[in-house]
Amino acid sequence: MAEDLHILEGSKAAQYQSLIPQIEALVKGEDDLIANLANITAALKQQFGWLWVGFYLVKDDELVLGPFQGPIACTRIKKGRGVCGKAWADAQTFIVPDVEKFEGHIACSSLSKSEIVIPILMENVVVAMLDVDSEHLNSYDEVDANHLATILSFIQW
Ligand code: SME
Repeated sequence: MAEDLHILEGSKAAQYQSLIPQIEALVKGEDDLIANLANITAALKQQFGWLWVGFYLVKDDELVLGPFQGPIACTRIKKGRGVCGKAWADAQTFIVPDVEKFEGHIACSSLSKSEIVIPILMENVVVAMLDVDSEHLNSYDEVDANHLATILSFIQW
């Protein structure tokens, strides 16, 4: 396996299409969960340069910070709190164009302006969340939701 990521410039969809097979190859060759989560955050951060990319893992009745790339972040989030906790409670993807307009948003970094949170389900139960933050407003849309869901489907829990 090559450890170098090939970074493509171009449309967001084109960037995902270049990145997805590389992430698939990385993840399929390794069965350690934390190693795979760590490399996925690094690959996304390297390709897109987003402010923060990371996982929160469901542990008992909280989300606990997992592998991430970016500034230090809150370590625990309760169900129903913030974007992550609400996406967990609803088991749904949340696209937040402007975090200041999302009631209850948890500001881990004052630089974060928009965010997407995607729950990861195993047998209909949320086991983790992917959380991605941008320094710009309106950074995420269905293109991100769909492609990130594809990337998350490669993870074996
Ligand atoms: N903004 C998130 C908290 C996690 S940080 O963005 C890394 C939220 O409201 O749940």
